[in-house]
Amino acid sequence: MQQVERRSSEERYREAFAAAGLHKSHLVSPVFVSEKPSKIDAMPGMAVMPLGKLSQHIQSIADSGISSIIVFGIPKSRDSSGSAAADRNGIVQQAVRAIKSSFGGPICIATDVCICQYNLSGHCGLVRNDDRVDNDSTLDMLAEIASSHAEAGADIVAPSSMMDGQVFAIKSALSSRGLKATRILSYSAKHASSLYTPFRSAAFARPSLPIDKSSYQVSYANPRQALMEVETDINEGADMVMIKPALAYLDLVRMVKDRFDLPVAVQNVSGEYAMIKAAAMKGWIDEEEWKVFSLASIRRAGADRIVSYFSLDAAKYL
Ligand code: PBG
Ligand code: ZN
Repeated sequence: MQQVERRSSEERYREAFAAAGLHKSHLVSPVFVSEKPSKIDAMPGMAVMPLGKLSQHIQSIADSGISSIIVFGIPKSRDSSGSAAADRNGIVQQAVRAIKSSFGGPICIATDVCICQYNLSGHCGLVRNDDRVDNDSTLDMLAEIASSHAEAGADIVAPSSMMDGQVFAIKSALSSRGLKATRILSYSAKHASSLYTPFRSAAFARPSLPIDKSSYQVSYANPRQALMEVETDINEGADMVMIKPALAYLDLVRMVKDRFDLPVAVQNVSGEYAMIKAAAMKGWIDEEEWKVFSLASIRRAGADRIVSYFSLDAAKYL
């Protein structure tokens, strides 16, 4: 009788990660911070951390062997221009200072730089009277936000608003304020997508309002524009570029790797997390298998940094 070799799922997952060349150093763990804790319905297992529990949470990330995080802030109050985003005592600025003072250099902190969590419209730019997003007047604000994050100790600032000129505006502000050590990770090819809906349900003023960002986020149908956005951001001085969402855009990851010589990051977004979680909760797919294979595929496409809500879970197979 033939002997069938049975391998545990854990062995299969370790093998998949090894074959894709994925290491813990590629993974970035997203952290939501707020004044008050909450759960996120559409992202089972993810929580919004109050400042008081932040150290404990970062310790659990560090214990898993992951040393990079990206901080998303949810403010306690909002206004029409999103002014709390640049507050030196705002939620992200406080969180960054707290993490740096407890953990110092070993934890690399990136911060999301945008205004949509802080304003009432949910748009990533200042909205004019005629309801259009005003690119140029948003740039000063983004520069202020990024500078306040850098002053608080962020290692990397990550502008996610898709305003034209955002990298140049931030780079100039950082350099004129002597904050040259702070790197810029630009969300260069951020596609308009309903896959951000679970994130918006947790972070926006009006969580259930559908919102159309197609005048500044890239269309799926326009991969050439995605590549142009990447090139522009590199020319403006970005240290890293991001492509987002992940799974339906992996061809672009490979194209950017082949064309440009700088690190490429990918964000495996909230809707990609929710799709796997929801189907697994119904018993329709195997959650462990798909969190592992989707992260492995992102690495196989060439991503140097992977921001994923699965990062912590995946670390146990690495
Ligand atoms: C805000 C921002 C969004 C995400 C990251 N930064 C939402 C949006 O653009 O509406 C999405 C993240 C996710 O879905 O995981 N600029
Ligand atoms: Zn935004």
